[in-house]
Amino acid sequence: MDKTQQDALKKAAGIEAAKLIENGMIAGLGTGSTVRFLVDELGRRVQEEGLTFTGVTTSRRTQEQAEGYGIKIVDIDDVDHIDVTIDGADEVDQNFNSIKGGGAALLWEKIVATNSNKIVWIVDESKVVDTIGKFPLPVEVIPFGAGHVIKRFEDRGYQPTLRMAEDGKPVRTDENNYVVDLHLELIDHPQDLAEDLINTVGVVEHGLFLNMVDTVIVGDPHGPRVMT
Ligand code: 5RP
Repeated sequence: MDKTQQDALKKAAGIEAAKLIENGMIAGLGTGSTVRFLVDELGRRVQEEGLTFTGVTTSRRTQEQAEGYGIKIVDIDDVDHIDVTIDGADEVDQNFNSIKGGGAALLWEKIVATNSNKIVWIVDESKVVDTIGKFPLPVEVIPFGAGHVIKRFEDRGYQPTLRMAEDGKPVRTDENNYVVDLHLELIDHPQDLAEDLINTVGVVEHGLFLNMVDTVIVGDPHGPRVMT
């Protein structure tokens, strides 16, 4: 699938998911290129149809895009609940084990998802896999002592790389942390791995989102397909 085809599937999934947002809702808005299509469609509905809802965003990038459309964005601590969060994903299997964080927003994404009544992911069909792990697993780590955390990951055979930006410096998350990508190829026991990672001092969060999502909307050449 080339990028144009993939973008068309992402866009179709984003437009389909936008239908879930109704007047008065509090909606979590994820991060990434698929979510950009979702926010474009929500912005269109706000401007053309008078849709009114409140958003909680998982990154400053999404906040800027949404506010550009006049969507009201509030701090997560200013709401007592989130009705539904719609986000992208890098890989998802049939048991709804997933890898997220390709856009370095995994920490805020997990916090927003954890505080949502309903979680929906929007993906193109290439993201649906038999077993997760081919996509490098992002792990957010504190910069202080990050070299030692990376060494520990090497010793465990996780094949870590520090994610670098185009300016040659480490990528920084919205919380100013680093992202280490683990090149695992296949994750057979995601729960064990998740526990190992979160118990490593210096790790803030990892990109394993295990059985958290309620619905996945898949952009498919035959039209958006819903997995529940
Ligand atoms: C950002 C994410 C994204 O949702 C994920 O990387 C999917 O991105 P895209 O829609 O661009 O493929 O987890 O941290």
